[in-house]
Amino acid sequence: MSKERNIISIEDAVQKLNQGIPIGMPTETVYGLAARIDKPDGIQKIFTFKKRPFFDPLIVHVFSIDQAKTLVEGWGRVHQSLASSFWPGPLTMVLQKKSLVSDLITSGLNTVGVRMPNHPMALKLIESVGCPLAAPSANRFGRTSPTTAADVLVELGDQGVSCIDGGPSQVGIESTIIEASEDQSQAVITVLRPGGISNDQIRTSLKGCGISKVDFTKPNLNSVKASGQLKHHYMPQIPLVLVSPDHSEADVIKFYLEHHEEIPSEFEGVKLNRPTKVSNLSELILPAAPELAARELYSNLRRCSSNNADIIFCRVNDQFQTDSWVAIRDRLFKAASLIHPKVKI
Ligand code: TXA
Ligand code: MG
Repeated sequence: MSKERNIISIEDAVQKLNQGIPIGMPTETVYGLAARIDKPDGIQKIFTFKKRPFFDPLIVHVFSIDQAKTLVEGWGRVHQSLASSFWPGPLTMVLQKKSLVSDLITSGLNTVGVRMPNHPMALKLIESVGCPLAAPSANRFGRTSPTTAADVLVELGDQGVSCIDGGPSQVGIESTIIEASEDQSQAVITVLRPGGISNDQIRTSLKGCGISKVDFTKPNLNSVKASGQLKHHYMPQIPLVLVSPDHSEADVIKFYLEHHEEIPSEFEGVKLNRPTKVSNLSELILPAAPELAARELYSNLRRCSSNNADIIFCRVNDQFQTDSWVAIRDRLFKAASLIHPKVKI
């Protein structure tokens, strides 16, 4: 089947979803591989197509706040405020699940992540199907997430996956995932994955709703083995090497050749490449504005790895330390195979 024929309309997507066949769905963050939450066959296929381990839970996409409330327990004032401020948009909230969310979706956890995507075609699709859609990013496990329909077909077209074409994803990196709890006028926010919404945005929004104190905590990594929290994730097809701004191309090659044997051939189920010669290298250059850098990160990584290059390198400068770069930094460091000791971690 040609790639073009794998691009489908919303109506065709609804039919496939109703038959338990996952489809590629555009969202503002990255493209998802979606299935109806009430079709176990479809959910199972998501894991098979992506080669995703069953321990890694899926997030569920809704088209309204009311639909989200049908899935979860404990929806409080903080959730309502955050949903009003940021939905539709790149914020996923983890709450106790109701029984209509299966253990297959949550990998046996009693919590589920929910979000309302900010893309008209995704919202139309979820509304037309009349059922929330579980969807991870539409890439093979461990690899770079797709931000166009064409990228989805490169990743999963060989599995027969069809995709709705909603244009390039505007945010470009995945949603922020949080857990929120409140006690009187105080809120505690646990950031499970940094993303399209920053801590400052969350703090400002909650203060505007009468929450006087907002604390941020880091997740207990033993409680869930979330893929976004694995050490190697979002990886391009060839090694990505992070260096500092004063490194020349010759320095990059020397550093890579001295250290490439330290790259494991496989890590957490993801095969890593480690060429033994470097004839061509490709530089990942990120725009200076963080919104643009996020939007272009994954497509730039893909472009760099399809350039006949042996390795990719990126010069990481000090601006990466600031709040608006946290999510980009997180993705870049997890996508990297080698990090020069001069790069500040
Ligand atoms: O922007 C996004 O969030 C995209 C688009 C398609 O919506 N989706 C996405 O899904 O990034 P995925 O599966 O690639 O990443 C979701 C992350 C995984 O790391 C998973 O482990 C974590 O969310 N997750 C899902 N449910 C969870 C839960 N109940 N508790 C903790 N982490 C959870
Ligand atoms: Mg993913």
